[in-house]
Amino acid sequence: MDSITTAIAAFEETLVTPNSRFDLWLKGNPKALTSEELAGYKLFKESGCVACHNGPAVGGKSFQKMGLIEPYQTTNAAVGRAAVTGEDADRFMFKVPTLRNVELTYPYFHDGGAATLTQAVDVMGRLQLGRQFTPEENVRIVAFLRSLTGDQPKFLLPILPPSADSTPRPIPFDK
Ligand code: HEC
Repeated sequence: MDSITTAIAAFEETLVTPNSRFDLWLKGNPKALTSEELAGYKLFKESGCVACHNGPAVGGKSFQKMGLIEPYQTTNAAVGRAAVTGEDADRFMFKVPTLRNVELTYPYFHDGGAATLTQAVDVMGRLQLGRQFTPEENVRIVAFLRSLTGDQPKFLLPILPPSADSTPRPIPFDK
């Protein structure tokens, strides 16, 4: 078990996605972001998205209520963290997702209820902040979110040794 968990942890450590344009900008390259992306970042900070989506992963650090200002409408039966804790206070509490690489991870929300980033940003603005973004503001925030895409990990499938008569066979399930 120790070897397996160490191996999985070592694999997970390779799943970082460095060099997003936002990271390059943070590291001091002023040209890494366009003026539209920068305007989106400003809006992302000033309108309050950073209250929940913050830190190195731009999220992933807390559980927060989905539908803070306005209830989230869904036909999905999921009640969030309450399903695990049984606490009424945890109804509709979900882990704040990281926004790194978010343009690659559609559809959005726990029930896949938003198909596009445009939709997800609109819902977040209204339900979490009580703010209706104009189409121009929405475009800016989405542009910023797309700058969070980094270099994706590349997987090389391991080639196993050829099978021989002495190769251990799988243990049948009924044993
Ligand atoms: C009060 C905390 C809170 C605030 C403020 C907030 N979010 Fe979220 N955000 C969440 C939670 C919780 C989820 C996950 C909801 C779910 O799974 O149903 C989420 C999900 C998302 C997603 C979908 C990510 C995915 O992978 O499914 C995007 C995009 C997003 N937020 C962007 C924003 C933007 C942009 C703002 C500001 C306009 C914002 N959020 C403000 C808590 C917040």
